Amino acid sequence: MPLIKQRDTLIKKWLKEAAEEIKEALKSELEVEIKTRKNDLVTQMDRQIEKNFVAKINEHFPEDLIVSEEGFGNDVDVTDFEEGTVWFLDPIDGTLNFVLQNENYAIMLAVYEKGIGQQSYIYDVDRDRLYWAIKDNGVYCNDQLLPEIKDLSLEEGLFASNSMFLSNKQVNFNTEITKRAMGVRTIGSAGLESAELVKGSTIAYVSYGLKPWDIAPGLMMVQENGGVVTQFDGSPVNLFNGSPTIMATPTAQKEISRLL
Ligand code: IPD
Ligand code: CA
Ligand code: CA
Repeated sequence: MPLIKQRDTLIKKWLKEAAEEIKEALKSELEVEIKTRKNDLVTQMDRQIEKNFVAKINEHFPEDLIVSEEGFGNDVDVTDFEEGTVWFLDPIDGTLNFVLQNENYAIMLAVYEKGIGQQSYIYDVDRDRLYWAIKDNGVYCNDQLLPEIKDLSLEEGLFASNSMFLSNKQVNFNTEITKRAMGVRTIGSAGLESAELVKGSTIAYVSYGLKPWDIAPGLMMVQENGGVVTQFDGSPVNLFNGSPTIMATPTAQKEISRLL
């Protein structure tokens, strides 16, 4: 079996297993800890899901490296990324939603080879919607191939962002962006925001402070479906430097980059 297909089969199986564990855990009270501040939380499930994935990846693909949020992965630098196979894993993206809403969170995973995204998975567990992509094969939601992103402008759709972007003093002038758009949306999960753009429900997602595991799955999927991912000035995203990011339709990206 080709390597990509082998990984795809395993990842989908592991995601379903992780979703069952999460649903089971939600029947009881979650163990919640504060990491750095009151809105930066971690639960026993973030740790358990990451630990299990890391063990399974190491068992099947011992040469590969893992960049993940909760500390069970490897220290990976840009050279490792450009020369090897690197998995990006966010066991629960949208932990605040997971704790406060029990929905609007996702398990995210992406595999990059020599710096190029090969496959990506964003699993909206609560809605049982798995967004997934294999390079040059389009993006699917479960078994349904999604149409390519339409190149709509800011005026023709919904603009999404994260709360760090909306509360940042330096982007107060983004009122021009929000005035032009048909409306503004914030889910609280970078992964689900990427999926909204990929399926055409929004025309842009603009964010501050994303980490490699927040952005790698969406970056691969958005590009695979005809969208654009850049830094605010339009230059390519460096996954490791945490720069502010625009994910958008090609036209909306140009407009937003000009207005920022
Ligand atoms: C967070 C979410 C949120 C984004 C933050 C991320 P986490 O991920 O994606 O939408 O605004 O920057 O850190 O911590 O819940 O995995
Ligand atoms: Ca995250
Ligand atoms: Ca997380």
